[in-house]
Amino acid sequence: MQPYLRPDLDRLQAYHTPHFPEADKLDANELPHDLPEWLKNKLAFLLEQGVRTNRYPEGDPLALKAAIAEYCGVTSDMVCVGNGSDELIRSLITATCLGGRGTVASAEPTFSMYRILAETLAVPYVGVARTADYGVDADALEAVIQANGVRVLFLANPNSPTGNLLSDEIIERLGSLPVLVVLDEAYYEFSRFSAVPLLWERPNLVILRTFSKAFRLANFRVGYALANPEIAAVLEKVRLPYNLPGLSQLAAFAALEHRDVLLAAIPEILAERRRIERFLADFEEIERFASDANFLFVRPHTADPEAVRVALAGRGSLVRGAAGGLRITVGTPEQNDRLIANIAALFTREIR
Ligand SMILES: Cc1ncc(COP(=O)(O)O)c(C=O)c1O
Repeated sequence: MQPYLRPDLDRLQAYHTPHFPEADKLDANELPHDLPEWLKNKLAFLLEQGVRTNRYPEGDPLALKAAIAEYCGVTSDMVCVGNGSDELIRSLITATCLGGRGTVASAEPTFSMYRILAETLAVPYVGVARTADYGVDADALEAVIQANGVRVLFLANPNSPTGNLLSDEIIERLGSLPVLVVLDEAYYEFSRFSAVPLLWERPNLVILRTFSKAFRLANFRVGYALANPEIAAVLEKVRLPYNLPGLSQLAAFAALEHRDVLLAAIPEILAERRRIERFLADFEEIERFASDANFLFVRPHTADPEAVRVALAGRGSLVRGAAGGLRITVGTPEQNDRLIANIAALFTREIR
């Protein structure tokens, strides 16, 4: 390691994703559908007519913020946009903990970027273990917050990789915690549960959302945070200039404009999730967990989960290994048929 690089970065790994171009991609919780062709054509037209590529994009995209505010039922001064919600997670850590000011906490297993982004900023991170059914233990959380100087708590709701929502009791308890509470609602369009109504009574609450999942825009990297205007203004101070490319701004705006069409795919995704759940119910050796999102978390008990993941990938169904189990994104009906056939073959079962 060169002497001017931080030695603590030595043990970190760059974020890599497996490359299986032939396989059904059920490993990143994206929607399996591309944008409709007419909407892509509209974006291409807008790019041609409305974007000067030699100019920086809008630094503070007010029209997009207004559209997001309207979609979420908040005011524009409560909205910040980021290059994926990943960028906003980093901004939140910068705004609360950087420079030895405090610790980041989360309840694990959960979305890995809370820990990774804290580590890249050399900010201490503490993960509180979830309960056996992946709920959050509020007493344990409180104890950890007090003992570690925690200033920001990230909770994914629904959680990834486990798919479950926080209980009402936990949401209630979060209101009295002396930290910034960030509820990450990346899968809101599937769960339909949101803490947005609490924003007005809880000044320590931030909500994260993304266009990467239900809105089919993972390629464009658009996320947003909702918070009271004071917090939103601070997030604006720590973001990079021109953080959202012009085409991404146009795509997010168009996705909201045509949300009736795009979000109409969700009932089928949820029905397909129930179909996969019903299929898996026949396997005592595969433990399943209830999901409120577009993916399922399972734990095979008679086989090494990593070996199952590799075998499924070899058969053409690429799922994600996580938390000692597998996280399976719901795909198209055809992709799900192949997943079901592949699981049946691996666990030598007839498909009924
Ligand atoms: C809980 C959660 N939050 C945030 C993200 C990242 O979203 P984005 O693509 O907006 O960075 C993901 C992506 O998988 C996620 O699962």
